Amino acid sequence: MTNINKISVFAPATVSNLNCGFDVLGFALDAPGDTVDIELTNSGRLELVAITGDGGLLPVEPERNTATAVVRMFFDRLGTHHGARVWLHKGMPLNSGLGSSAASAVAALVAVNNLTGHPMRKEELLLLAMEGERLACGSAHADNVAPCLYGGLVLIRSYDPLEVIQLPVPEPLYSMVVHPHVHIPTREARAALPAEIPLKTAISQWANLAGFVSACYTNDKALLGRSMTDLVAEPVRSPRIPFFDAMKAEALNKDALAFGISGSGPTVFALFENKPQAEQCAMAINKFLLKNNLNNEYYISRVNEQGPKILNQ
Ligand code: HSE
Repeated sequence: MTNINKISVFAPATVSNLNCGFDVLGFALDAPGDTVDIELTNSGRLELVAITGDGGLLPVEPERNTATAVVRMFFDRLGTHHGARVWLHKGMPLNSGLGSSAASAVAALVAVNNLTGHPMRKEELLLLAMEGERLACGSAHADNVAPCLYGGLVLIRSYDPLEVIQLPVPEPLYSMVVHPHVHIPTREARAALPAEIPLKTAISQWANLAGFVSACYTNDKALLGRSMTDLVAEPVRSPRIPFFDAMKAEALNKDALAFGISGSGPTVFALFENKPQAEQCAMAINKFLLKNNLNNEYYISRVNEQGPKILNQ
């Protein structure tokens, strides 16, 4: 057996919350995503050799950068004296609502788990990736890291103990995500949320979440769309997203099943039953934002069932 000591892993962006499942629903996209290269060493040292694609914004200290911090946790958990050299290639914008920190953490963990002979199960990697989220934004939510690591569409049924359920993906389903170039740190977007919600709101929200899950199992896309309303985060977060109402109106006018904020924003997403509709909607919103002097980029994707991908080893 050859001894492999370097590997490159891609991990995808994710759309979380899905309107009716704040902190408990998310799915993986085909693109964009982050790539992490890791070389295992015997030095006992963790070295962040280079970061590309972040515009110089990410911390370069290995203990503060999510990708390397989770590798340190991985080694500590195993009690090994390995070291590693890490290259992080950001393929997606930071603070975008597309699970950027999650993708870096998951790519790094899958890489180092492969290089060390798979000592950890996915469930254990997930707990470490959640700690990466805690480092990045102060909260160990799993609705980006779980779909990123498992692929597909996931429900976090419980946080304590952690229970992740993979839901059947209604078919055909296409998503478009548009990332307007405004900066909304997840930490701030979370701080803006109410600590408590009225019982009436909670009743509507959990009824919608149940409707969503039922729609996944019955492939009822009309029910899926109806259930995807957000009474918790959207009312407080959407005012910080320029032209949110106009984008929503455009998407619904183009027969979107649902439209909402991706994670903590500013990226917005919409779901469609066919690809041309998703493309037309994304292009219309892209043009509209540009006309209003707001740079943006968009992606069209199915739900990515694979999750992380080993690029070479
Ligand atoms: N569920 C999280 C939030 C996702 O909305 O704050 C952030 O990435």
